Amino acid sequence: MEDKRLVLAYSGGLDTTVMIKWLNEKYGYNVVTVTVDLGQKEDFKSIEERAYKAGSIKHYSIDAKEEFVNKFVARAIKANGLYEGKYPLSTALGRPLIVEKLVNIAEKENAVAIAHGCTGKGNDQVRFEVTAKALNPRLKVYAPVREWNLNREEEIKYAMAHGIEIQAKAKKYSIDQNLWGRSIEGGPLEDPWNGVGEDVFEWLVPPEKAPDKPTFLEIGFENGLPVSLDGKSVSLIELISQVNFIAGGCGVGLIDHIEDRLVGIKSREVYECPAAVTLLEAHKALEKMVLTRHELFFKELVDMEWSRLVYFGLWNEPLREDLEGFIERTQDRVEGTVRVKLYKGGVSVDGLKSPYSLYDLSLSTYGIGSKFDQKMSEGFIEIWGLQSRVGYEMLKRVKGNG
Ligand code: ARG
Repeated sequence: MEDKRLVLAYSGGLDTTVMIKWLNEKYGYNVVTVTVDLGQKEDFKSIEERAYKAGSIKHYSIDAKEEFVNKFVARAIKANGLYEGKYPLSTALGRPLIVEKLVNIAEKENAVAIAHGCTGKGNDQVRFEVTAKALNPRLKVYAPVREWNLNREEEIKYAMAHGIEIQAKAKKYSIDQNLWGRSIEGGPLEDPWNGVGEDVFEWLVPPEKAPDKPTFLEIGFENGLPVSLDGKSVSLIELISQVNFIAGGCGVGLIDHIEDRLVGIKSREVYECPAAVTLLEAHKALEKMVLTRHELFFKELVDMEWSRLVYFGLWNEPLREDLEGFIERTQDRVEGTVRVKLYKGGVSVDGLKSPYSLYDLSLSTYGIGSKFDQKMSEGFIEIWGLQSRVGYEMLKRVKGNG
């Protein structure tokens, strides 16, 4: 038989396990499986075993943590990457890298197709396929879950009929995780009126159970990136893991909102992102100290556009790098130390210093010795309000009172 190969993004879950058999049975593919480690803390050895048991002809387990942090998360920090002001894009940032790895292996293995386990209702299918088409348009892409439209019961039936082992208890939530965060969807969360149950928490101590004493953390920044914790230099990857642990222990990093998916569906999304929430808060605070207001106002727009492109699966859109050109230019001044206070689910900036600070005490002080001549404000206010006043008076005159 001809060796027709397909490379599957394999998570070890029921969907992608069943897929190995299905893609072989239905299309005659020899399935090569790939699991990419982005810091999701799984047992990669048993994932590999599962893949082989289900019929994978070759399994790759790829450690891409460094690359994920340095090429994707680092840019997200500089861009204050948040979708709809809330979601730190953790899942969204991981997808293009997973696809890049998959495409590389497909080329190496002379595969003609790739496949993923995303449903037809989410963002991930879009991210996956848009990126794959950009990197190698010759590869055919299969989305068996979308094509099947199977439910869990049917999948279990298929698995049993084909001797595929299934995990004893059905998972209550759909989870995706990497170093930048943990996404939790489905189950009772589908009703937005339901609160977040304790069984959702894995990275966080539920805020009400967090310690009664605040924790302070000094985060040092250079070139827009965090480089030290309480004065000790650490690599970005290590720093993120430590902040996940420390802030998570203080109940910090729960995000719960209604999110607008690219496909038009509104969905209730819950995340645990202790490091992302803490580091973005600190980064934004430092930017406010060192950038001019004009830079800040404009950067907010740029950051929002950057975040949307990433969320919408357009990592390879040239505009992303164009925007990064601007972002990068602003970051060499984002240097200094931010002291954050972590307390029962809340993070606040408690202290700030920077060699590039634009904060000038001799201007802002209400005490003695101020260099700011208050008398100048009088004329300034006259001129500042001039045109608006003229416009307001004109409308009153033309339209009458009321
Ligand atoms: N809503 C998020 C996003 O689109 C997270 C998706 C998470 N996926 C999952 N299988 N739970 O990026």
